[in-house]
Amino acid sequence: MAKLEQEEKIDLVKIACDVRKWAYVPYSKYQVGAAVLTESGRIYDGVNIENAAFPVTVCAERTAIFKAVSNGEINFQAIAVVTKDGGMPCGSCRQVMAEFSPEMLVIVADENGKIKEEQKLSDLLPGMFTAKSLD
Ligand code: THU
Repeated sequence: MAKLEQEEKIDLVKIACDVRKWAYVPYSKYQVGAAVLTESGRIYDGVNIENAAFPVTVCAERTAIFKAVSNGEINFQAIAVVTKDGGMPCGSCRQVMAEFSPEMLVIVADENGKIKEEQKLSDLLPGMFTAKSLD
């Protein structure tokens, strides 16, 4: 993974921030926006999409990653996640990230675009279960 410039991080956070308005959150009212940067340099955004059957809800990070994967992109440099106060990605989303890019950078910011946390996925999900675990 090439090291990300500060400007690229700010751009990614801005996209995640901007897309938050599309979050479909009639139940929690908790808007989450995400933007994932592929190794090829493309960016896919996503929001959380809730459902009256609560467990069917999809997080913003997974929406963004699934949009990327369904466009043939499976290698990621970084993901920015924006919530009101800089909430961390849930375990399920970390596991989905681990499937594709265990060393990707996870950037967490608040609604003002202030970066609160910046860590490699492997530090956020130690001992991750991967395809290797199935050998
Ligand atoms: N949520 C995300 O979008 N990403 C996370 O990593 C944590 C939680 C969403 C799911 C639900 O719509 C709302 O936040 C409250 O849990």
